[in-house]
Amino acid sequence: MSIDPQSHPPVKLGVLISGEGSNLQAIIDATGRGELRADIRLVISNRADARGLERARRAGIATRFLDHRRFKSREEFDRNLLIALTAHEVELIACAGFMRLLSPVMLRAFPNRIMNIHPALCPAFPGVDAQRAAIDYGVRFSGCTVFFVTEGVDDGPVILQAVVPVLQDDDEQSLAARIRIAEHRIYPYAIRLFQEGRLHVRGRKVFVDNAGSTDDEMMLIHPPLR
Ligand code: GAR
Repeated sequence: MSIDPQSHPPVKLGVLISGEGSNLQAIIDATGRGELRADIRLVISNRADARGLERARRAGIATRFLDHRRFKSREEFDRNLLIALTAHEVELIACAGFMRLLSPVMLRAFPNRIMNIHPALCPAFPGVDAQRAAIDYGVRFSGCTVFFVTEGVDDGPVILQAVVPVLQDDDEQSLAARIRIAEHRIYPYAIRLFQEGRLHVRGRKVFVDNAGSTDDEMMLIHPPLR
């Protein structure tokens, strides 16, 4: 059964960033191409110089700078995030390079409605410098993971993963660039699955309606067997 995304209203999205905002840009672009029905209500950055703020402004999206250093605790910062997001009637939050852990204040207000993306195949290599860690370990594959945020670091229920090879002469930058291409494909798609009502969280697993996977798409071998 194919799903008509038009049958569901656009998802009211809030995006949290700290820096470059290339994933935000991918979400904006997917929306522009009609691949994702999202109404991006607000972009919040905890850093004034985040390039993503400029990307949002250029797309005509409301922005807020909220300096975490102004608040006494993580919870107080989160309460202010919450006020801004609810004032813009946000239903789903996408963290996109947002380098702050969220407290229960946010998690309770948006249960299974906060997504994040991590540049590794979770639960491998959580936290910062995931690409460096993958190269140092010598894994043959890495990739990226979109997941629902929990209190842990990059360990919530997995929504989508994409796999990329780690090549022998890769450095952190070349691997990060390959992973980033995959990030820009899967993050808008994960949001689309939410918008279409196809994601169901049970325990720590996410079930996807009409996932349509077949076995023969599922094997990757690297280096190739030749
Ligand atoms: C992305 O690679 C994202 O996976 C990573 O930050 C980068 C943000 O890039 N997030 C994490 O490492 C979370 N632990 P962007 O600002 O260009 O979207």
